[in-house]
Amino acid sequence: MPGTVIVGVQWGDEGKGKITDLMADRMDFVVRYSGGNNAGHTVVCGEEVFKLHLIPSGILYPHIMAVIGNGVVINPEVLLQEMSELSSRGISTGNLKISCNAHLVMPYHLAFDRLGEISLGSAKLGTTHRGIGPAYSDKAERLGMRVQDLLDERIFRKKLESALERKNAILSKAFEHETFDVDEIVRKYMEYAEVLRPYISDTSLLLFNALEEGKNVLFEGAQGTMLDIDHGTYPFVTSSSPTIGGVFTGTGIGPGHIERIVGVSKAYTTRVGYGPFPTEETGEVGDVLCSRGVEIGTTTGRKRRCGWLDAVLLRYAARVNGLTGIALTKLDVLSKFEKLKVCVGYSYGGKIYHDFPPHQTIFHKCEPEYLELPGWEKSISEARSKEDLPPEALRYIEFIEQASNVPVEIVSVGPKRTQTIWMTEESRARGIEEGPYLYEESFDADNSSNFE
Ligand code: IMP
Repeated sequence: MPGTVIVGVQWGDEGKGKITDLMADRMDFVVRYSGGNNAGHTVVCGEEVFKLHLIPSGILYPHIMAVIGNGVVINPEVLLQEMSELSSRGISTGNLKISCNAHLVMPYHLAFDRLGEISLGSAKLGTTHRGIGPAYSDKAERLGMRVQDLLDERIFRKKLESALERKNAILSKAFEHETFDVDEIVRKYMEYAEVLRPYISDTSLLLFNALEEGKNVLFEGAQGTMLDIDHGTYPFVTSSSPTIGGVFTGTGIGPGHIERIVGVSKAYTTRVGYGPFPTEETGEVGDVLCSRGVEIGTTTGRKRRCGWLDAVLLRYAARVNGLTGIALTKLDVLSKFEKLKVCVGYSYGGKIYHDFPPHQTIFHKCEPEYLELPGWEKSISEARSKEDLPPEALRYIEFIEQASNVPVEIVSVGPKRTQTIWMTEESRARGIEEGPYLYEESFDADNSSNFE
């Protein structure tokens, strides 16, 4: 059962890229199972900077097969850009496999995403404007265009005609927006098809066979638990399932093949986009977390919302995902606080909720109940083992384990691979070598209405 899942347990940007890289050397496959180019990270290797939104970062290792599962929505233009950027830097894309059942992001999805946000006015979600929601809506409405449709121009055209009949009517009548031309889209997408054809495959079968043969497969989550369409802070969520369930629907393998489920959590909390965030700190503490943690979109230069760790959400994520371990990232950012606050409950209407509340109003309006833990003065970015950590940092980690009932296996104290502490005996035995890559979660929402 050699399947490992890496899942974000907050609102995305938890540092999953670095954790994936730490585990990648032991993997044969790295698989994306949900989301689209609303996610991504920047990988730095010496002077080279790679921005990956769709292609799993495993592609950077020649021994790894990088797979885009059926649960991902693919903007082929973005995918081709990433592929050509990699090739131009001497990185082969020969190990890339794309599910024939993945859905395509179409040009009208981008238009509907933008128009939808405008029509919501002040209730807008702050989407990435990448067409993600409309692409998943079409999938559910059975109006979607799939990767396999690229392989047959006749089928592609037929499906597109029927989709555009409805889309164009809505665009022109409801939004007074210009319409889309079938021929133009067919021409463009058939050009994409020429390049993508050799990469398209039955990735469910490929992964099943690999897992049966005992190959190591890493399922790399995008976004995070609280952005999950079912289990997140709906409607302020993305349109897919970043949680564990998304692995199965998004790749076509069964739960029996999964051995480890590692939840990645920052030592504090951040969020992009609108929506409730009980532990958000809008004053000095938020500014300190933001600047020390460099919580700034790399392209936009805009700040992420920051706040204390929410242990209620962590316990919720442990439950929803069945976590077997936690990777705690950016613990170094908490150095030098005299006291650290951790949310252990939500107070609303004279009641304290210790579990994620069943009604959205409670979560939107609650006051966090904090527990204070002692902070530590010294920097921990040079710590390489448990023994190098101050007792207060160990206490913080212990608290997280008790609150979630899940062991903390990995603690990250900086962006470098070597700035990692393996907490369990088993993980310590493996050692860490400096790798070629540095990861930075880059939620690159240049056009996002978050940032208007
Ligand atoms: P969408 O996924 O573009 O539809 O955006 C829906 C919500 O998810 C918005 O609040 C986005 O800010 C948020 N979101 C989507 N992808 C990410 C991510 O990778 N990191 C953090 N937030 C994200």
